[in-house]
Amino acid sequence: MLVGLTVVMAALFLVVIRHSDTARNQEINQKVYRNLAARLIDEHILEGETADPSAVRKVFDRIRVVNPRIDVYLLDAAGQVVAASGQDAIKHASVDLTPIRRFLKGDDELPIVGDDPSEPVRKRVFSVAPVALSGSESGYLYLVLRGVSRDTLAQQIKQSYVLRETLWLLGCGLAVALIASALILTLMTRPLRQLGAVMDKFRRSGFAEQPEPLRLPTDEVGKLTDTFNHMADRILAQMTALQKTDAMRRELVANISHDLRTPLASLQGYIETLHLKSDQLAPEEKRSYLEIALKQTEQLSGLVARLFDLAKLDSGQMTAALEPCALGDLVQDVMQEFELAASSKGIDLRCSIRPDLPLVMADVGLMERVLRNLVENALRYTRSGGTVSVMAAPVADGALVEVADTGIGIPEAELPRIFERFYRVEKCRDLAAGSAGLGLAISKRILDLHQSRISVTSAPGRTVFRFVLAYAPKRAAAGAVQEAADLRPAEAAPAKRAVPSLAYPMAER
Ligand SMILES: Nc1ncnc2c1ncn2[C@@H]1O[C@H](COP(=O)(O)OP(=O)(O)OP(=O)(O)O)[C@@H](O)[C@H]1O
Ligand SMILES: [Mg+2]
Repeated sequence: MLVGLTVVMAALFLVVIRHSDTARNQEINQKVYRNLAARLIDEHILEGETADPSAVRKVFDRIRVVNPRIDVYLLDAAGQVVAASGQDAIKHASVDLTPIRRFLKGDDELPIVGDDPSEPVRKRVFSVAPVALSGSESGYLYLVLRGVSRDTLAQQIKQSYVLRETLWLLGCGLAVALIASALILTLMTRPLRQLGAVMDKFRRSGFAEQPEPLRLPTDEVGKLTDTFNHMADRILAQMTALQKTDAMRRELVANISHDLRTPLASLQGYIETLHLKSDQLAPEEKRSYLEIALKQTEQLSGLVARLFDLAKLDSGQMTAALEPCALGDLVQDVMQEFELAASSKGIDLRCSIRPDLPLVMADVGLMERVLRNLVENALRYTRSGGTVSVMAAPVADGALVEVADTGIGIPEAELPRIFERFYRVEKCRDLAAGSAGLGLAISKRILDLHQSRISVTSAPGRTVFRFVLAYAPKRAAAGAVQEAADLRPAEAAPAKRAVPSLAYPMAER
């Protein structure tokens, strides 16, 4: 393209040079001979009062010695050729007077070209002066200045040193411009080529390999590179996330299948035994088998309910209906549920709630679920004689809730993973032991809905789960207390919750 452009420019320059060279020649010619006609009239023609054709012949004879390229014509007032110096035949008997008038008016914009009676197509510069013709007619002495011969460009160049010099300089200029443009273009497109190569490599790697970092100047290409780098990072992150999600999905399906298959197989076994050997089984055995089967179905429905909860939490379908509630009542309520289980296992269940604890913002149903999961875990992993305690106390940004136990503890390496769904520290524990590995995952997501983060510290003999709940705004809290007082009938048992509404029907185990 650059070479093409240069060639076009060179051709244009040649046309311009040729045109301006001709025009300049004509201008000079006309300037030099501008007054020639008038002078000739004064000095040579008007020997009498008028000019006659023979006078023209005389003038021509005189000037052809000096300049043979001047033709002399005598025109009448209408521009008709009255006499010609002419060795050339007249091909055009009249001359257009418009340029002649312009000339005589003293127009400075030379060259002014007019008709050449001997060559009708060509226009030539001229010199003209009014002259009186015989018979009191006025006319013009019209000198056509032929000037330089009309050679081809090649001939012109060959003949003119100046033209050759000019063209040589022009060629050099164009060559320099061509080289400079090519150089600039190469420099400008180099970063683009680098970027293109990196992009291509990234594409060939299936968008999986981190592209080499490109450090380019802060111009447009730099910005483009920056954008590409960000885009590549984003693509890589998304690819990794996709792979992770895919792996999680596969793991999830495997876990669910395993957790459902085991109790289902056992359930089927007991029911088949009852069905086939009904006659041979003692009533005691039948009852025991039925009890086991019932327990299995309970556990199965519990698992399905937890999976359902988790799916709803994951998909964002479940929202927390936050409202002011008394944490003390809520904790007491949950503790009561586990009192029997704790005493039968020989575990001391303690509860320590600061009485001056302000109301917190929570979804009562969901928060009960969190506490239930944590206390259930604590009881499950604590041996007889141990202690499980729930504490709630005010801290700077809300109420701190701690569920602690003196149980077996969680190995430090496992701590980061226990909130993942289906994650169990001891892999052999299965649903039959009441452990699906979903409780903490559900609790974490519920606390996410409360803008709270659950944390854990653990060592053998002491495991503590903590989270902080934000206080209810003062005015909302006052309203809730009033509402709770209104709701509490005088003779009824003390209300367990400040606000009894449940936003979400919980799947009870
Ligand atoms: N208080 C605790 N002491 C020791 N280990 C614990 C405690 N709490 C949780 N863990 C460990 O973390 C794992 C995950 O707990 P999570 O509550 O999510 O599942 P789970 O109790 O096994 O089953 P689920 O709660 O679904 O019935 C448990 O399997 C257990 O290994
Ligand atoms: Mg649990």
